[in-house]
Amino acid sequence: MILVTGGAGFIGGNFVLDWLAGRDEPVVNLDALTYAGNLETLARVASDPRHVFVHGDICDRARVDQLLATHRPRAIVHFAAESHVDRSIHGPGEFIRTNIEGTGILLEAARAYWNTLQGVAKEAFRFHHVSTDEVYGSLAADDAPFTEDHPYQPNSPYAASKAASDHLVRAWFHTYGLPVVTTNCSNNYGPFHFPEKLIPLTIVNALAGRALPVYGDGLNVRDWLYVGDHCAAIRTVLERGRPGETYNIGGWNEKTNLDIVHTVCARLDELRPDANGPRSRLISFVADRPGHDRRYAIDARKIGRELGWRPAETFDSGIRRTVEWYLANPGWVANVQSGAYRDWVNKQYGAST
Ligand code: NAD
Ligand code: TYD
Repeated sequence: MILVTGGAGFIGGNFVLDWLAGRDEPVVNLDALTYAGNLETLARVASDPRHVFVHGDICDRARVDQLLATHRPRAIVHFAAESHVDRSIHGPGEFIRTNIEGTGILLEAARAYWNTLQGVAKEAFRFHHVSTDEVYGSLAADDAPFTEDHPYQPNSPYAASKAASDHLVRAWFHTYGLPVVTTNCSNNYGPFHFPEKLIPLTIVNALAGRALPVYGDGLNVRDWLYVGDHCAAIRTVLERGRPGETYNIGGWNEKTNLDIVHTVCARLDELRPDANGPRSRLISFVADRPGHDRRYAIDARKIGRELGWRPAETFDSGIRRTVEWYLANPGWVANVQSGAYRDWVNKQYGAST
């Protein structure tokens, strides 16, 4: 079996569901259920004996040790993190604790466990660290996309905490020989995405007739990848990636934020027309994010060349699936919009939404 951390979050949840849909190998899922963790995402596998959910913190070394000793996984896939840049600006402490300390604790627990393995089991073991393109910093309009050799230049507390965790993972390979792989992926979108990130926030607000907040001039560029493609890339790297290597994952799909918001509005207008007119009327330019990175772009040639992975979805097909999913799942959305969610929206956007 494999141990997944953060498997009640957006990407981890999709990963667990896709994994169990495609194979019989069980998953132990360790998640602290912060505001971003949601057991409803895992409803489909709630009574599946192949899915063992454990409510716990990656910073709890004894708990992690006990899980490893009991379940003896062949791999750890580490998603658990604080993941929202804006939240990291308001309060970086939790990012330092979970993303840096938590990864360090997990690495130490993995190393102790790995040292008890022998022969083929020891050789085959993998610690897969799931990271982000934000560690590389910001690109100018005509800069080449990030390769795996691009210098680390993190600019937000979130990016800095992920960069630190990447460095720890690298050091545990070089110093102790722990067989790690790291993937640095661009912005994901898709089902079960918490509605405080750009795409789900736009969908949810547009359906409710609320303002669609666009930071600054709306011309910041991100590379967007459908979450199912990211999960497929992780499975590929887990199976065939070389220990000690990093692989960039991206969709070859750069868009400005304004493009994204207009596209989401157009899909909603098509699938659920609004009598009051096109949803793009709701776009509202708001104060820019402090230190807002201008452009991210991923050069995903290495994973294509070495491991044969390529995204299956185009942006058009992926965004259509995503909008359709949100339209079909209002219950999931309503349930994640708890008091904690509303507090965040008030803190970040004040009276503008
Ligand atoms: P998310 O915020 O939706 O989910 C994070 C999950 O981790 C939640 O279920 C939360 O409860 C859990 N968690 C948080 N702190 C924990 C702790 N101390 N112990 C145990 N569990 C804890 O995040 P996501 O968007 O699914 O991102 C998953 C991973 O992928 C992160 O490491 C993130 O840096 C990385 N990543 C995300 C994106 C993206 O676009 N969302 C892109 C590239 C990389
Ligand atoms: P986000 O989804 O927070 O991802 P990240 O900051 O990790 O790339 O934001 C994506 C882009 O959208 C980013 O440039 C910030 C911008 N943005 C807005 O313009 N308005 C919003 O309300 C949010 C949440 C983000």
